[in-house]
Amino acid sequence: MFIENIDLVYFRNFIKKSYTFSKDINIFVGPNGKGKTNLLESLYLLSSTSSFRITTPGCFINNNSESNYSSIIAKLNNKSLTELRILFEENKKKYFVHNKPSSFKKFQSIKAIVFNPESLYSVKGSSESKRQIIDEILCSMSLNNNEIYINFKKILKQRNALFFDCKKEKITYEKAKLLKPSLDEIFINCAAQLTNLRLEILKNIHGFFQDTFSSIYHTKKAKVDFNYTISSIKANDWTEGEISLFLKHKIKEKEAAEWAYGSSLVGPHKHEISFLMNGEDARYYSSQGQQKTLILSLKISQMMYYYEVNKSYPILLLDDVHSELDYTVRQYLMRFLNNLKTQIFLTTTDIQFLEGFGKKGKIFTIK
Ligand SMILES: Nc1ncnc2c1ncn2[C@@H]1O[C@H](COP(=O)(O)OP(=O)(O)OP(=O)(O)O)[C@@H](O)[C@H]1O
Ligand SMILES: [Mg+2]
Repeated sequence: MFIENIDLVYFRNFIKKSYTFSKDINIFVGPNGKGKTNLLESLYLLSSTSSFRITTPGCFINNNSESNYSSIIAKLNNKSLTELRILFEENKKKYFVHNKPSSFKKFQSIKAIVFNPESLYSVKGSSESKRQIIDEILCSMSLNNNEIYINFKKILKQRNALFFDCKKEKITYEKAKLLKPSLDEIFINCAAQLTNLRLEILKNIHGFFQDTFSSIYHTKKAKVDFNYTISSIKANDWTEGEISLFLKHKIKEKEAAEWAYGSSLVGPHKHEISFLMNGEDARYYSSQGQQKTLILSLKISQMMYYYEVNKSYPILLLDDVHSELDYTVRQYLMRFLNNLKTQIFLTTTDIQFLEGFGKKGKIFTIK
């Protein structure tokens, strides 16, 4: 499946535009502020109910015109699903398949992986942003994984509410203490499942991650890896049973602190994930270009692993991927992208970046 064509009507800064794409590489080139990222965003919205950037109600509707709606119409090269439309009204979003109202579920055959300047925060940023990127990867793989993630979030919320309500004296300590064991049992179960899934994903994408990094960074010497730590202990090889036992022990140890603090102090929402380069934490030791290559390699590994599991490729959206990469790394990156079997959309302000794409690249000047 690939996206053949897109029509943008009053979408962001586009009044009416139509683009017919290559099934290989599509390059949006143009100066700052002309709509390259908007175009990627319109493609991303075919795969997700929310944008990859912060949005406000009505932000998708062109504000230089009188229009009170905007729409994205996509034609797909696909057997059963060929025309999709999203209609944005001020606070509403409506989905259509072959011109008939539909739910977003029908759109879910389009998968997109996005790399943008904010992706760098997954290496540089907080522990939460690292957990988030791994959870995004695991949720994108299957509905079952998504369910495990959602179940954990739900039970965490319930457990936190119990501690909070008790702290605020909305329920008595005696009553809360009676409710806690059954919640703990479900919590430990869901937490161990999610942690185990994270560890599995990290193991399964490691080979792709290393190969991609070596190809783009054109070195066999740099070893890249992940570290998963639970309460400061390296847990990369733990089994689900071991995770569960450890959690039980920690819950006992932290019981007084959790009541006092009013929320859950142990569990996957507190685990640490780090990216390693030659054994050192990339957050502190790797250069800006190395960090960028790391996270780009992670996104490409996600795509490859998705193919291994689902036998179809997600589309790849690369926003401003080349900045901070030196000339040689850019050349290796382009060579690498040229050999990928998925449909790629990328933006650049730098016309020089286009050298090396050869026949596979279709260029769109956005001005
Ligand atoms: N609802 C809207 N109506 C009209 N214009 C909009 C709307 N939303 C955003 N824009 C405009 O779109 C432009 C930003 O587009 P975009 O972020 O796609 O630029 P870009 O080409 O990616 O630039 P850069 O190279 O700096 O990343 C801005 O000029 C912004 O004002
Ligand atoms: Mg942009």
